[in-house]
Amino acid sequence: MPRDPDTPIHCGPRHVAIIMDGNGRWAQARGRPRLYGHHAGARRVREVVEACPGLGVKYLTIFAFLTENWKRTQVEVAGLMSLFRRYIIKETRALAERGVRVRFIGDRLRLDAKLIDLMDQLEEHTKTNDSVHLTIALNYGGRDEVARATRRLAQDVAAGKLAPLDVDEQTLPRYLDTHVLPDPDLVIRTSGEARISNFLLWQSAYSEYEFIDTLWPDFTAAELARLCHSFGARDRRYGAVRA
Ligand code: FPP
Repeated sequence: MPRDPDTPIHCGPRHVAIIMDGNGRWAQARGRPRLYGHHAGARRVREVVEACPGLGVKYLTIFAFLTENWKRTQVEVAGLMSLFRRYIIKETRALAERGVRVRFIGDRLRLDAKLIDLMDQLEEHTKTNDSVHLTIALNYGGRDEVARATRRLAQDVAAGKLAPLDVDEQTLPRYLDTHVLPDPDLVIRTSGEARISNFLLWQSAYSEYEFIDTLWPDFTAAELARLCHSFGARDRRYGAVRA
């Protein structure tokens, strides 16, 4: 759902997207295996979700597993998948009680059946909630998402449901995984890397970016608040000039 640039927004970001990077380095600095860092990172997610309502952040999208992350060792991939399963089981009640609506984006086909089941159940269990919309990108890649969307769009064209001339900037995003979400206002990447790594490629065309040095397991609600406040001071013109 692209933003209408003429619609006034409150001065903080309504939709924050986060590339949670640095778990591995955080663990290595402590002489621990990388998975130790991922577990510490998972604990940070709760604090950040809980901070959102107070900051006026209605949508939070977090990058949990990138399509390219399958290239990591089998031990790390299996550990992450097990962490996601455990996170869902452990956090379902707290998320539901706090009125959080959870959605998953990404390609589910490569995920194991048990995990997909848990994801479906969490989405179903929280589907009437509205305090924060938490979207977890799992086996997600921006290019992969655009390719899958284009495939579905092409199927609709072939079936005569859509005319080629009707394919435009409004039509294509309706086929994206994020079709019910507004575009992110602010994208944060932790750990000092200044790249977007295939995250929300279409949706972040007009997002503001913050690349910060903090490793994800050290990220706090206070840091999120600081970034949201500095976002409020930015002048967003969407390509126009100020009148
Ligand atoms: C990047 O750090 C992080 C990941 C690939 C995984 C992100 C996962 C979590 C924060 C865990 C939990 C998430 C949920 C939703 C339960 P990295 O491993 O690339 O760190 P490095 O760059 O220091 O090696």
